Amino acid sequence: MNFSNFVFGVTFLVLSYVFCAQSAPYKIGVGRADCTGPPVEITFMGYANLKQKGEGLHLRQYSRSFIVEKDDKRVVFVSVDAGMIGHALKREVVKRLQERYDDLYTIDNIMITATHTHGAPGGFLMHLLYDISILGFVAQTYEALVEGIYLSIVRAHDNLQDGRIFLSKTTVLNANINRSPTSYLANPVEERELYEHDVDKTLTQLKFVDNNGDVFGVFNWFAVHPVSMNNTNHLVTSDNMGYASMLLEKEYNPKDVPGKGKFVGAFANSNLGDVSPNILGPKCSKSGNPCDILTSKCPKNEGECFASGPGNDMFESTQIIASRIYEKASSLIKQGEGNEITGDISFIHQFVDVPNYTLNVTNPTTNQTEILKGCVPAMGYSFAAGTTDGPGMFLFEQGTVTENPLWNMVRTFIAKPTKEDINCHSPKPILLATGRAWFPYEWQPRIVPTQLIKIGNLILTGIPGEFTTMSGRRLKRKLSETALEHENSNNFEVVIAGLANLYSSYITTNEEYLKQRYEAASTIFGPHTLSIYIDQYQRLIRALLSKQKVDQGPLPPYLNDRMLSLTTGVVYDGHPIGKDFGSIKAEPQDTYRFGDTVKVSFVAANPRNNLYHEESYFTVERQVDEENWEVAFTDASWETRMYWERTSTVLGFSDMHITWTIGPDTIPGLYRIKHVGTYKYILGGLFPYEGTSRTFQVNAQ
Ligand SMILES: *[C@@H]1O[C@H](CO)[C@@H](O)[C@H](O)[C@H]1NC(C)=O
Ligand SMILES: *[C@@H]1O[C@H](CO)[C@@H](O)[C@H](O)[C@H]1NC(C)=O
Ligand SMILES: *[C@@H]1O[C@H](CO)[C@@H](O)[C@H](O)[C@H]1NC(C)=O
Ligand SMILES: *[C@@H]1O[C@H](CO)[C@@H](O)[C@H](O)[C@H]1NC(C)=O
Repeated sequence: MNFSNFVFGVTFLVLSYVFCAQSAPYKIGVGRADCTGPPVEITFMGYANLKQKGEGLHLRQYSRSFIVEKDDKRVVFVSVDAGMIGHALKREVVKRLQERYDDLYTIDNIMITATHTHGAPGGFLMHLLYDISILGFVAQTYEALVEGIYLSIVRAHDNLQDGRIFLSKTTVLNANINRSPTSYLANPVEERELYEHDVDKTLTQLKFVDNNGDVFGVFNWFAVHPVSMNNTNHLVTSDNMGYASMLLEKEYNPKDVPGKGKFVGAFANSNLGDVSPNILGPKCSKSGNPCDILTSKCPKNEGECFASGPGNDMFESTQIIASRIYEKASSLIKQGEGNEITGDISFIHQFVDVPNYTLNVTNPTTNQTEILKGCVPAMGYSFAAGTTDGPGMFLFEQGTVTENPLWNMVRTFIAKPTKEDINCHSPKPILLATGRAWFPYEWQPRIVPTQLIKIGNLILTGIPGEFTTMSGRRLKRKLSETALEHENSNNFEVVIAGLANLYSSYITTNEEYLKQRYEAASTIFGPHTLSIYIDQYQRLIRALLSKQKVDQGPLPPYLNDRMLSLTTGVVYDGHPIGKDFGSIKAEPQDTYRFGDTVKVSFVAANPRNNLYHEESYFTVERQVDEENWEVAFTDASWETRMYWERTSTVLGFSDMHITWTIGPDTIPGLYRIKHVGTYKYILGGLFPYEGTSRTFQVNAQ
């Protein structure tokens, strides 16, 4: 070997090493957009409590998306700060994307999931049962979500760049507990022995890294209900998962206000069906004693049974749970690279009519073949009792009159369950035979989307509802086993991506179903729902790995055009004589110290006139020099809160109260608070206004 050959060989080795180490197997884009719903007058989605209407804003809602492409195959994953996703919502997002990009994006390659916050306005689902406590469809909530989700995907599309993906996992302790532990215990002991805890404590993370080795996006999955904010909260909030995202984005976009900056960090949901963040557990509100473990009831005179979090109030609980999840995710990012994902991309999607699904199984004790069936949707009695995270508000029964005018209008259209329904759902006692109600449109879905997205050895499983802990574990085990039957298939990492594409309440295991707690009463397709899903997802993974196509299945009914809505729009806004919109009603003090709360009030208009997406109803501004002010906090900041108060319905008067609690990281100096709004003139038309407080001094001590 001569010298030049040697040099050539070494150079080749070095170059190929550098090339291999840095070559990016994927095109990756991440995007975020504001999708905050109307902050006032609309009931929140989650606790089914008609009285839990919005009265202001604490944290904004965002949609966070990533797109990954390889060999001309492209997939999109979205996590939205919302209660859940409806089919009509996804259909509209896809329609708008196709108007812009033709067939690049479809129902099949986009998976849209919700974090499941219970602190955001509802009315966007189109299935009557889910919109009843909101008084029906709310076009403004729907439009805010559609546009925000769409925009987050457009931004991810516009940001596509060469990138690498790393997968890693960590354990988060002290952030979640099981809220139906007695149901969990009904699962076979051999199965339970495979796991240390009765909820999943694993956080799974995807990290996106550019050609320079910089992290530009991180998506995490973790199982916990975003119900740290309880049903007495009236401020729009993204709750624990949303705040964890904000903390991560603050770390990687240190100069930006919330919702801005290039880095996108998402915390998406997983098998959270029976998982609560209220880790002090259920207690009786008056005595402080634990509730009865089986029934979640308290003795007379000991008050109501509900669980609360580790903090002194719900805000502090939200902060603690969010910080615990965020801190683990953040240190995982820095802990080496994790496993690099490099394989191919594929996806599969099929609609399934669950009540028509039959499944042959062999009974292990008798060797007899049994035929299992899905049931026509129905809700059981325990559903009305609620959970220890939010005791029952949904007291609707066949034929009863309630305070809810929408229920009173439609209650006669709900049919009695048939004999077949009663047998099929047994031992669930049927409260509402929702699958038998068709007027004025479908009450609960019977056709659901099932979907898998494969990126290398990662399988994202899009579940159209809330899987309990063991349901998720069982599906993951079965899918991994099924995948291994295939030649050339390595070990897969299966992630449960819950509340995807459509909402169909809960899914428990058959053993949990027999206990008929809340989650089981809300398993709408009956005792074999999970077995049916496992069978269906096994079919999908077999087809996916053997590159076979499946038919699209029966399309869900088009529910859009006959929507029922009892919420009214803004009529008009007025202001007291001599006090124009934006004029100050309560000025701040002259000086404040760290830890103090600044309070200011303005003559205002209804915030529903303009949702100020990507902007803010108010800004806390710091003076940087004689002429310039810099925005330090917005309405989306953790430190600020906005309360809207209607002072005269007849005259359309209202006030906006803004608070800012001064944190220890604040820069001392001169500050002011500026409010912007839009009023509706009595003779029609929308007009902007603004107002600014006087300047005040903030000192450290
Ligand atoms: C909600 O949290 C507040 C504290 O922030 C507490 O006073 C109240 O009792 C809680 N209510 C329920 C139903 O959890
Ligand atoms: C369900 O099955 C029934 C009876 O076999 C059939 O009439 C109906 O069309 C099926 N529904 C769907 C959506 O496939
Ligand atoms: C299930 O069993 C029934 C009767 O034993 C049979 O007719 C049917 O074809 C079987 N279905 C499947 C999917 O194997
Ligand atoms: C069930 O069938 C399997 C194999 O077909 C056999 O090994 C087993 O003994 C049978 N069990 C019973 C209870 O008949």
